[in-house]
Amino acid sequence: MPGWLIPPAKKPEKSKGQFQAERTAKVQWLIEHDLLASERIKRALLTVPREDFIPDCYRDYAYEEVPLPLPGVEATVSCPHSYPLFYEPLGLDAGHQFLEVGLGSGYGAAVAREVVGDDGLVVSIEIDPETFVFAKKNLLKAGYHDVVLVQGDGGLGYPDLAPYDRIVVTAACAEIPVPLIDQLKSNGRLIAPVFEGESQVLVLLEKTDQGIRREAKCEVLYVPLRGRYGA
Ligand SMILES: C[S@@+](CC[C@H](N)C(=O)[O-])C[C@H]1O[C@@H](n2cnc3c(N)ncnc32)[C@H](O)[C@@H]1O
Repeated sequence: MPGWLIPPAKKPEKSKGQFQAERTAKVQWLIEHDLLASERIKRALLTVPREDFIPDCYRDYAYEEVPLPLPGVEATVSCPHSYPLFYEPLGLDAGHQFLEVGLGSGYGAAVAREVVGDDGLVVSIEIDPETFVFAKKNLLKAGYHDVVLVQGDGGLGYPDLAPYDRIVVTAACAEIPVPLIDQLKSNGRLIAPVFEGESQVLVLLEKTDQGIRREAKCEVLYVPLRGRYGA
């Protein structure tokens, strides 16, 4: 992962209580850094045990601001602040039909499932078969049985359950894949890291009756999107 320093793999030692305290402190930190305001996202981050979505050898680093390697090719669980960074501008809320491209560990899908609640739906696509199996196991073990998990190229979206209120792409694209824009509802929003030369910018896109509104939020650093719309 260019640009990030990955901590050394080690035997996990922290207790459930320690993780719980770290999770609470992280949510407080996100609020103080103006990254987190929504009550539903706050509650979701407090509810999902992030450590249970991380390989054992990196588990103790669960709440550190660093992406951690996952089984598969170039797969990572994003750093903790990435989730409110993406979900807050999306305005992810109860009842939304939500599509995630890049399931990774399954953590982001679990957080989204807590946010959208029983009236919403989470669909998540992962291109790497090994990463997919890892995420599926994590989600089922944590009790998330109703997230729709798809193994394939997320750049193509998932037309069977479209249209979506909100779409997140968690890998960096050369351009936002057109099928994803097509599968967005009117007044729907999509967020994705997009390459600008060597760097990447987090782009928020809104589909309105007047056309597509596009806003660059900040610089970011994510693994590149693979597949037909790969970077
Ligand atoms: C930053 S990680 C995702 C983190 C994840 N949301 C989580 O919470 O752990 C990006 C993921 O996108 C996946 N990916 C890359 N290209 C993809 C594609 N075209 N379709 C679906 N997944 C893709 C990678 O294999 C990787 O698992």
